[in-house]
This record gives sequence, C-alpha cells and structure tokens, in this order.
Amino acid sequence: MLRGLRFAASPPFPRKVGRLFMSFQESNIRELKESAVKLISDDWALVTAGNQEQWNTMTVSWGGLGELWGKDVAFIFIRPQRYTYEFLEREEYFTMSFFGGGYKKELALCGAKSGREIDKAKQTGLTPFFTGRAVAIEQAKLVLVCRKLAYQDIDPAGFLDRTIDAACYPAKDYHRMYVGAIESVLLQKEGA
Ligand SMILES: Cc1cc2nc3c(=O)[nH]c(=O)nc-3n(C[C@H](O)[C@H](O)[C@H](O)COP(=O)(O)O)c2cc1C
Repeated sequence: MLRGLRFAASPPFPRKVGRLFMSFQESNIRELKESAVKLISDDWALVTAGNQEQWNTMTVSWGGLGELWGKDVAFIFIRPQRYTYEFLEREEYFTMSFFGGGYKKELALCGAKSGREIDKAKQTGLTPFFTGRAVAIEQAKLVLVCRKLAYQDIDPAGFLDRTIDAACYPAKDYHRMYVGAIESVLLQKEGA
C-alpha cells in the first residue's frame, strides 16, 4: 500500500495509482543509448500527468530532449483539446514513458481515444505508478520525470515555412509547448 495514498472515485473513471516502482532504477540521462529522435519520433512515448487520485496519459511523437537555461530538459507539444492538457496545466510535474518500440498497439489506442471517453489503463493493461511526484507507466523501459519550467503557445506568425500551418493546423489548434526539467531518469531493471 502506498503511504498517504487516497483512492477517490472521480468521474468519469476512477484512475487508481496503486503500484510502487520496484522494477526501476535511477539512471543518468547522459547514459541513454538510444537516439532521442528514435525514442520519441519512431517509438513514441506516453506523456502522463496527474496524481494518485486522477491522472491521464496520451501518446506523443513530437518533442525533444536537450538543454535549456542550464538544465537538462524535455520539450513536449500538446494541443489544447487533449484531456491530458488539463492535467498538464494543473500539475507541477509530468512524465514521459518510453517503450523502445514495444506496446505500439496500446500506444496507438492512447493516441486515438481520449481519456474522456475510455479508461486507458483498463483498455490497454498499462499500469500507472506514482513516482512520488508524478504518475508514470510501469511497463515502460525508460521514464523521465519532468518538472514544468515554462510553457509557450505556438504562434503561427513565427512560421517561416508557410506550409506548416495548412499541413499541421487546419483547425488552428496550435500546440502548447511545455519545457520540463528532467529531474529523474528511471530505467527498467534488467529482467524486470
Ligand atoms: C503516434 C501519435 C503521436 C501523437 N503525438 C501527439 C503530440 O505530440 N501532441 C498532441 O497534442 N497529440 C498527439 N497525438 C494525439 C493524442 O495522443 C490523442 O489525441 C489522444 O487521444 C489524446 O488523449 P487525451 O484526450 O486522453 O489526452 C499523437 C497520436 C499518435 C497516435
């Protein structure tokens, strides 16, 4: 039982977070062996935000890892209509869970359906766990725990390549970019 954990049935779905992260070990972002482009763009990731009582997760393939303001950071780009956006706005932390190319069926579902309509944990079998600061996904090979540093809304006035607007924003639903300081890097233990 997680200390201090409170389970509350909060509509539309109770989103209980009930496992410790025994199968992960702390690592260093500089020791990652995979390319960040492959990790995010090809393999996809789940961005998760929330708390022990209520959380949501969604698939992303746009984003980046790097340095800003003297910190190791992750960049994510979230359209405002996503349910996860509400959690990102509310919480100080978010996580990125990476699956190394696995769980594509599950990630496709989390990227096609909204947590407003389905219980993503129930429908995919993916299990949330609480890192102490944020919610992440137990089956991930790698989890980045990020503290929000800043956000910035994409301004189409800045598009130098004018094809971007028509190609990516026919509904004018410009992403909000969140910059998160990578505070913890959790690697799935071998054989876990
Ligand atoms: C491969 C893939 C990548 C995606 N990348 C993003 C992304 O970077 N930003 C975004 O806002 N939506 C992205 N989406 C769409 C969201 O994952 C999708 O709208 C999801 O259903 C939102 O769930 P939610 O409403 O529960 O937050 C992506 C979807 C897929 C399948």
